[in-house]
Amino acid sequence: MQKILLSLLLLSTFLYAEGYSREDRIKDMQEMAEAMNTIQSGFFYNNYDTVASGVEHLTSSVERVRPPLEELEETDVMTRYMNNKIQMTRKVVKKINQKSLTILRRFKNGDSTQAVQAYKKILEQCMSCHQQTRNW
Ligand code: HEC
Repeated sequence: MQKILLSLLLLSTFLYAEGYSREDRIKDMQEMAEAMNTIQSGFFYNNYDTVASGVEHLTSSVERVRPPLEELEETDVMTRYMNNKIQMTRKVVKKINQKSLTILRRFKNGDSTQAVQAYKKILEQCMSCHQQTRNW
């Protein structure tokens, strides 16, 4: 029974990562960085549409990020452990999405202080993961 459960679990993680490579993740990371820049521009130029397009871009790229297949297939125990630690969890995705919506809502209401606060929270999510992964 346990064996069946384990293989089901493995199967589902493989399916989850199917077709997603390290290059794809790098590309999605770059998309997110660009989206963050767009949002910031929108703040500086006080332009709601720019903020909204950055948020749209960010939320659509963050949805795609996941551990690439080669990480899931890793056999070395220590590397696997590290990889698990840095997997893009649903929690991170949810948080980034929520804070993005806060940016939109607050900025629309003219509350740029709170909008920037939410932006900062997103930046912290990016940086804390990067710190764990490569001590940036
Ligand atoms: C769950 C962990 C995690 C989160 C959250 C995360 N990143 Fe990353 N990021 C990575 C990893 C891992 C790499 C290294 C990818 C590689 O080289 O395989 C990376 C690399 C990058 C790079 C460099 C890409 C390149 O060209 O080499 C940029 C830019 C980047 N991230 C931007 C962001 C932004 C912006 C956010 C937040 C909106 C973010 N990341 C959130 C894990 C994360």
